[in-house]
Amino acid sequence: MCGIVAYVGARTAHDVVLDGLRRLEYRGYDSAGIAVLDGGSVDVRRKAGALGNLEAVLEAEPLAGSTTGIGHTRWATHGAPTDGNAHPHVDCRRALAVVHNGVIENHSALRDELTNVGHVFGSQTDTEVVAHLLEEELDGPPGGEGQAAQHSSSRTPEEFAEAMRRVCRRLAGSFSLVAIHRDFPGVVVGARRNSPLVVGRGDGEAFLASDVAAFIAATRQAVEVGQDCVVLLTPQRLEITDFEGNPTRGREYRVDWDASAAEKGGYDYFMLKEIAEQPDAVAATLLGRLGRDGTLTLDESRLDTRVFVEVDKIVVVACGTAYHAGLIAKYAIEHWAGLPCEVELASEFRYRDPILDRQSLVIAISQSGETLDTLMAVQHAKEMGARVLAICNTLGATIPRESDAVLYTRAGPEIGVAATKSFLTQLVAVYLVALYLAQLRGTKYGDEVAGVVRELAAMPSKVAAVLDTMEPVRAIARELARVPTVLFIGRHVGYPVALEGALKLKELAYMHAEGFAAGELKHGPIALIEEGVPVVVVMPPPSGRSVLHAKLLANLQEIRARGARTIVVAEEGDEAVRPYSDHLVAIPAVPTLLQPLVSVVPLQVFACELAVARGNDVDRPRNLAKSVTVE
Ligand code: M6R
Repeated sequence: MCGIVAYVGARTAHDVVLDGLRRLEYRGYDSAGIAVLDGGSVDVRRKAGALGNLEAVLEAEPLAGSTTGIGHTRWATHGAPTDGNAHPHVDCRRALAVVHNGVIENHSALRDELTNVGHVFGSQTDTEVVAHLLEEELDGPPGGEGQAAQHSSSRTPEEFAEAMRRVCRRLAGSFSLVAIHRDFPGVVVGARRNSPLVVGRGDGEAFLASDVAAFIAATRQAVEVGQDCVVLLTPQRLEITDFEGNPTRGREYRVDWDASAAEKGGYDYFMLKEIAEQPDAVAATLLGRLGRDGTLTLDESRLDTRVFVEVDKIVVVACGTAYHAGLIAKYAIEHWAGLPCEVELASEFRYRDPILDRQSLVIAISQSGETLDTLMAVQHAKEMGARVLAICNTLGATIPRESDAVLYTRAGPEIGVAATKSFLTQLVAVYLVALYLAQLRGTKYGDEVAGVVRELAAMPSKVAAVLDTMEPVRAIARELARVPTVLFIGRHVGYPVALEGALKLKELAYMHAEGFAAGELKHGPIALIEEGVPVVVVMPPPSGRSVLHAKLLANLQEIRARGARTIVVAEEGDEAVRPYSDHLVAIPAVPTLLQPLVSVVPLQVFACELAVARGNDVDRPRNLAKSVTVE
């Protein structure tokens, strides 16, 4: 949820850290802060609110020109988003500073223990216990002479790393931690458990961050830090150990996108840029999947093909938009591969007693690969013996690493909090998995699989065609900017699309929006319909499963008869809906199962435009952050 960046090198640390924070601000924007080493102490600036507030503080009270620094952009969990709760946090001596992403679950007991030996806390955060625990390890209780006074010049960086290991062994919960200490100039120590941390290795400089976006302008060479590991970093040196001190290696990789991918590129919002990038993102995710012989290959999946053949049940776990992709996966997997498929919110999955065994394949969908609920569901599934396939957009993230196999989507960095291009690429990925299962299990012939892959290959141009015709959708959105509620209905794969349209509107426009399965209308929701209530209707293709179209047409007539203002998303040339549509949004003809790839696009544009018309910042909706790394 929060963004962390640390720098050691030859440049002015606070400039580099601030630049990194600008790229990480999407992870949290309640408050921000920077600490640098300044001779005999750490120098800290922190401020509630967006990063701009911190920049103003730095302007008024510049930091020292240190070459070792850490920074943080916060999404508050413990303690309100105030100046005092903003990170970095310091110890009693102001000898060290620490930033944290995650939740320290046993912070309350630790705080009592530390207070009893004289530590004084300056914030309500769970994080501050780490600063004082490190102080205990490195310098002893406050008031004492401390190790520093005794032999500060002879201290080795290993001592700092060992202190972090000892602290980590005492912590419960999830954390990425990064710390600096006055006795260790040019050294940053970090740690992680169930929260991301990645090293960036530049020329004579090094970074430690929650996300490669923080250092992509300086280097594309990255090293994944494994679960339950401590990192010791200097400009030349990288040492990773587990919490017991056993050396371990991180996986090195080269980031395959550059800094421009994480910039707005002339758009007012990242979200607008990311919506526009969808045709390319879909095409990239499809690239190289169909072999010359017409068979589908999922090269990087790492799962033995026998697993796909022997599996007797699929369970999809995910949150938010990724969950909606999972709901669509169910239709494709059951239809093409003939396998039972359950879809469950990751946050619910782990607190019930799912029936899983070695024959079950769990598919965990996550753009960030960091969502804690999804990660916990993955761990739970593995404990039960199931195989886990991750669908993820972030190379080296925790969820793919903890899974047995991974299929990467290739959406590129998604900075806007609202998921857009990641959703379309997740859909492509679930279609590919469904087809792969069908191919290996023989429920579809090779030429049939190749046929669907060819239809998928045509989708980028169809999505582009939708994007070219969005001006009327924007106009409707502006007209509806002040309505109190918008409802969405759909059937079959149009139902998750309706849910997704409503989620986008809630998170961006802060208004009541709800998606329904159209068949459920008469079981309650139709009571909400009164004169002028806007209802977005996602119509299935008339020539697909015609019964679906007929049923939804009947629902459309019912709500129209009760006064609804209908905004109908329907295949071009679908004349049957015209008499019942106040606004008709035409989308290209595509096969029924693939229709979400085009039908969701107008709903994204609608939500974005409506939210902007209400004066909201669509990249940074209130109370939200891009990845939810806490429960
Ligand atoms: O990174 P993930 O895909 O695991 O994130 C899951 C949800 O938090 C995410 O899709 C969220 O619902 C989006 N903000 C919705 O636009």
